[in-house]
Amino acid sequence: MAGKHKIAIFASGTGSNFEAIAKAAIGGRIDAEVALLVSDRPSARVCEVAKELGIETFAFCAKDYDSKQEYEAAIVERCQMAEVELICLAGYMRLVGETLLSAYEGKIINIHPSLLPAFKGKDAIKQAFNYGVKVFGVTIHYVDMSLDGGQIIAQQAFNYNGYDINELETMFHAVEHTLYINTIREILK
Ligand code: GAR
Repeated sequence: MAGKHKIAIFASGTGSNFEAIAKAAIGGRIDAEVALLVSDRPSARVCEVAKELGIETFAFCAKDYDSKQEYEAAIVERCQMAEVELICLAGYMRLVGETLLSAYEGKIINIHPSLLPAFKGKDAIKQAFNYGVKVFGVTIHYVDMSLDGGQIIAQQAFNYNGYDINELETMFHAVEHTLYINTIREILK
C-alpha cells in the first residue's frame, strides 16, 4: 500500500513556514507527512512548534561535530531512518554541503524571500526594502552548492509601496506559505 510521501523540513528560526507546511500535511492539504524537523538551533522557536505538533526533531549544534561532513552525515542518517523522500529548507541558515547533496541529489528545495537572482543571502527582505524595491517576490528553487542558486521551480511576485517593513514581512510570510505548500504538492505528484 502506498503511504504518504515523507518529507523533512530544515529550519533555524521562527518556523512559520515549517508550521504552515506541517499543518497542511496534518490537514490533508498535501499528500505528505512531515516525518522530521532538522534544526541547527535547538533553542529556536521552530523546535517548540515541532514538539507541539508531535513531529520528530533532530536538533544539533554544529560545534559538537568536527566538520560539516560529520554533522551532515548525522543528518543523512536521521533522514534515511525516517524514510525521507524530499527535503524542504525553510529558513535553514547554513549552506548545504556535498555530503547531504550527494545523498539527496535533486531532492532538496529551498525558499528564498526575493525574486532570485536578486538579493541573495541573509536579510533579503531588508536588502530589497532598503533598495527601494516596489515589486517584491518569493522564489523556490532546487539546492546546489551555491548560495541561493540552483534551478528555479516557482516564483511569486507582489507589489508593496508602503514604508513599514513589519507589514512587508507579514505579506512575505503569507505569500511564502501558500507558494511553498502549492509547490510541494506539485513536486510530490
Ligand atoms: C523565510 O522568509 C525564508 O524565505 C527565509 O527565512 C525565513 C524563515 O522564516 N530564508 C532565507 O532567507 C534563505 N536564504 P520562518 O522561520 O518564519 O519560516
